[in-house]
Amino acid sequence: MLAAFSEQLIGRRYQLLNKLGEGGMGTVYRAVDRLTGQTVALKRVILVEDGGGGAGTGSTTDFRVTLAQEFKVLASMRHPHIISVLDYGFHDKTPFVTMELLENARNFLEAGTDTTLDHQVDLLIELLQALAYLHRRSILHRDLKPGNVLVTRDGLVKVLDFGLATELGKVEEIGGTLGYMAPELLMEQDATRAADLYAVGVMAYELLANQHPFNTEDMMTLVRQVISESPDLAPLTAHLNEDTSKEERFQYSGVVDVIDRLLAKTPDARYDDADTVIEKLCAAMSRPVPKESAAIRESFLQAALFVGREAELRQLSGALSQAQRTQGSAWLIAGESGWASHVCSKNCVFGRWSKASLCLTGRLSLMADCPINCGARRCAGWR
Ligand SMILES: Nc1ncnc2c1ncn2[C@@H]1O[C@H](COP(=O)(O)OP(=O)(O)O)[C@@H](O)[C@H]1O
Ligand SMILES: [Mg+2]
Repeated sequence: MLAAFSEQLIGRRYQLLNKLGEGGMGTVYRAVDRLTGQTVALKRVILVEDGGGGAGTGSTTDFRVTLAQEFKVLASMRHPHIISVLDYGFHDKTPFVTMELLENARNFLEAGTDTTLDHQVDLLIELLQALAYLHRRSILHRDLKPGNVLVTRDGLVKVLDFGLATELGKVEEIGGTLGYMAPELLMEQDATRAADLYAVGVMAYELLANQHPFNTEDMMTLVRQVISESPDLAPLTAHLNEDTSKEERFQYSGVVDVIDRLLAKTPDARYDDADTVIEKLCAAMSRPVPKESAAIRESFLQAALFVGREAELRQLSGALSQAQRTQGSAWLIAGESGWASHVCSKNCVFGRWSKASLCLTGRLSLMADCPINCGARRCAGWR
């Protein structure tokens, strides 16, 4: 099997090494990028000519479209808890995507069951941070489940598998994995952010109880229970005993309340958004809401709409058109993180002017501690 892999060069560039995993839609391999030497994860769709049986999709053609859709969504995102996509291509008329390789990653439940409540809440918060980012960009994941949320060996949560991800309000067909689908989806109502929150609720339940909230093998029973029965919350705290401190009991009771509300039968009865869930979990654990890390802040800045720099953009465009008339100039756009200096230059240079111009751009960071000790503080030298 391995010999057959290594003979293949996918997209004339990627050498398959071994299989990392598979899901309803595709198989994921560890592969070497012969161009860069980097080891990556490469996902190919499974070739099934009729009735693929994947989450919400049917034929091979559908899987191909799904993979293209997955690449499109992922390419527009950058977040520390969302997998980074690298490349998209075709091999034997079948598309593939490459992404950052999560070496020795474990799925959400493998990493989170049988550990402390504190750690379980950490994992949930990172998952919710990714979801807050997606939802703020009006993207629904629609297939959150343990196999689609990995935890790296450094303990970082990474959400993957965006095959069913869609823009809010543009969902055309019901999709997902049965055990994680909200009651309203089973009743053929439209997916909303609340359906993703429900899936987080199921995962949170599994994390604490080590079993699914509706513990049955029978599909019809499952559907009936999801639609009309409240989950039994007792297994969430079944392992507590007389040695459990009062403080820990208090924490558990707060977290169980959050899970209960995430699993509410109607979308309106769940929390408004992922950020609110983070707040409630932190309150239950008596800890402060985590400050936005630089990476998360940057992810929101990159996803933000570009507004309020029209005058600067006009000025830059003017300079570019002058340069095209042989009056060149050099421009330095300076500003603190968030001022949009980089987006400004990108919009100008990669906008309509780029077709006729050769432009050189770069980023310069002034450091708080200047290596040549010139005394400059951040940005101060450019006034
Ligand atoms: N970037 C990655 N690094 C390591 N393993 C991965 C990566 N992406 C996926 N996998 C493994 O492959 C499995 C299937 O990937 P997934 O994208 O969920 O495919 P599908 O769409 O077929 O469900 C995952 O559950 C995981 O075990
Ligand atoms: Mg999957």
